Amino acid sequence: MWTAKAPSNIALIKYMGKQEKNIPCNVSLSYTLDNFFTEVQLNLNGKSDSDEFINDILSENEKNRFLNHLQYIKDLLSFNGYFSIRSMNSFPKSAGIASSASSFAALTMCAFKAISDVKGIKMPSQEYMSSISRIGSGSSCRSFFSPWCIWREEESKKIDLPVEVEHQLILINSGKKNISSSEAHRRVQSSLLMKNRPQRAEFRCEKLISALKSGKWHEAYQICWEEFQDMHALFETSSPHFGYILPATLDALIKIRKFWKEHNDGPIVTLDAGPNVHLLWKKGSKELHKSFYEEYDFQKFSFFGSDCNLFIANL
Ligand code: DP6
Repeated sequence: MWTAKAPSNIALIKYMGKQEKNIPCNVSLSYTLDNFFTEVQLNLNGKSDSDEFINDILSENEKNRFLNHLQYIKDLLSFNGYFSIRSMNSFPKSAGIASSASSFAALTMCAFKAISDVKGIKMPSQEYMSSISRIGSGSSCRSFFSPWCIWREEESKKIDLPVEVEHQLILINSGKKNISSSEAHRRVQSSLLMKNRPQRAEFRCEKLISALKSGKWHEAYQICWEEFQDMHALFETSSPHFGYILPATLDALIKIRKFWKEHNDGPIVTLDAGPNVHLLWKKGSKELHKSFYEEYDFQKFSFFGSDCNLFIANL
């Protein structure tokens, strides 16, 4: 039996819009979420003539994507055995964290481990496995490099940034998205704002790296704010337009902005293709984020209504 574990990641400079084989239209920069990981187990299955799942956490569609990716790696390594597959997430689906990044990264690592072992060949580099994982799901290529990763075209690699952060999630809605991120990648191509999108992402990425390197936390917050708003503007200006931001998302964002104004400090904020709010706090600012939750009493927000609640990870 072979096992592999990979974390999810959250992008501060966003991957949105792609070409063939999930080559991104623009640079992205991410932080790995070590507490949100997937573990994949593979067992050789001599009795079967197909790969099969032995647990049931994925939808039919997700299972097929997973099986296709496993087949892709088997073909690449000219391997014709079959596996039984078990896949487990450390986080509930309802946490609103994308699981495709961690699950495709873990599957890729595990398949290379298993097949290299059976065939007695050397394991490939992290860089190579990351580029293969990207073909299964784009953002998964960033899960190979912890804690910070930069991904540009076919290359994803670790980047050293002298800043330690803690991640938290304000869960606004845990329901399934109407528009998947794969569909979002397709639709944004129709937005006029896509025209200079690669340049904007590149410009912000450089500025963000330099802000994080020189300890300019407020500037980093400002850049990340502009960046997630830019991605959501692409959604809203696509044809047909779509969006993920809910009233409770806006309310949380307004509170964060107010907090920053009053304290001249606070968390970096970002949104993925969903309504939930990701926060990155500078390590050592526990008092500050304690006062954030006390001041705004997030847990008791009645406007979140019955189908919304708050989930704070990593406290
Ligand atoms: C909005 O990696 O889920 O989270 O390549 O189609 O699998 P596929 O897309 P996916 O895209 C995620 C995009 C995003 C932003 C980001 O993570 O950079």
